[in-house]
Amino acid sequence: MKILVTGGAGFIGSHTLVELSAAGHETVVIDNLSNSNPKSLERVAELTGKQIPFYQVDIRDREGLNRVLGEHHFDACIHFAGLKAVGESVEKPWEYYENNIGGTLTLLDAMRQHGCKNIIFSSSATVYGDPAIIPITEECPKGHCTNPYGQTKSMLEEIMMDIQKADKEWNIVLLRYFNPIGAHPSGRIGENPNGIPNNLMPYITQVAVGKRPELGVFGNDYPTPDGTGVRDYIHVVDLARGHVAALQAIERKCGIAIYNLGTGQGYSVLQLVQAFEKVNHIKIPYSIKPRRAGDIATCYSNPAKAERELGWKAQYGIEEMCRDSWNWQRNNPEGF
Ligand code: NAD
Ligand code: UFG
Repeated sequence: MKILVTGGAGFIGSHTLVELSAAGHETVVIDNLSNSNPKSLERVAELTGKQIPFYQVDIRDREGLNRVLGEHHFDACIHFAGLKAVGESVEKPWEYYENNIGGTLTLLDAMRQHGCKNIIFSSSATVYGDPAIIPITEECPKGHCTNPYGQTKSMLEEIMMDIQKADKEWNIVLLRYFNPIGAHPSGRIGENPNGIPNNLMPYITQVAVGKRPELGVFGNDYPTPDGTGVRDYIHVVDLARGHVAALQAIERKCGIAIYNLGTGQGYSVLQLVQAFEKVNHIKIPYSIKPRRAGDIATCYSNPAKAERELGWKAQYGIEEMCRDSWNWQRNNPEGF
């Protein structure tokens, strides 16, 4: 298939380009580079042996989208482009709604004008809020999102469902990611956060590389086995392969399809720290800090639906995730 990849220069997008190429698909990337470095695409070319056409276009730029969609005929779009920092979204709600919702509306309109009505959307486990069922199945009711970022994901899901309801030519796959970590095993592409990392694994690797003195563990009084928050960490290469598998749903004209992409295993903050220390033989100093506003105790998936319907299952475990995160950081201490 020929696939338009929005946000393809980013963390998950770049890994997905590698897996799409390995599966024989052709790709074109658009990205405004607001949170990425074009070097990621050079590294993808190095890994795949293929140059991927790249347009520095914003998804809010209708003219730019028309140009790309006019020059290529796409079978589907995989839509990663969006702002994703939870804390920043609380400070800048307008920017998040405008970029994520405004941008996606413009993209969907340009796509339908050009006759491409197949899309795979990066949603998030955040739409479950404080989940009503653990492990979380796709039937779990959506919950209250405590920040504008989460709201954009939840609202975009609703918007796309309404669009598909009104026009059955659309096929829309909503992929709810759990917590992606790790990096390509080559160490050539990986996560490249700006400033102080918000997420746990990039913080751990920055402590490991000596950029930060210690990890703050946000709360040890949650109702979990060791009191720290439990999450479903998933290797980014597995997540990337989940997108390749999701193309099958598009091919069989799924209408709307929703899949959790996780491993089904929950690990606490301290378990992740211990696994990182054991695999990489590096001590990670930490201290217990107060809970972080908006955090929940436990979040992990039941990923059985994706296995049943797409034949997709995560292959990598926590040790590979810790090994590959560190391999990336060690080889690229300043990012790209
Ligand atoms: P990322 O920031 O590395 O990648 C997103 C890319 O989109 C960046 O390259 C950025 O420059 C680009 N972008 C942002 N706004 C744009 C716009 N208006 N026009 C064009 N390009 C734009 O993030 P990621 O971790 O790779 O996440 C990809 C997607 O997955 C995002 O939609 C994110 O919300 C979603 N997601 C991520 C996580 C996670 O923990 N990483 C979890 C759940 C969902
Ligand atoms: N944590 C710390 N110290 C840190 C960072 C995180 O103790 O410096 C803890 C958190 O309190 C939480 C766990 O580590 O218990 C994971 O936190 P992350 O910030 O890495 O991930 P979240 O589960 O909070 O959220 C992430 C993304 C969201 C996405 C969600 C999907 O940031 O965008 O996963 O499950 F929606």
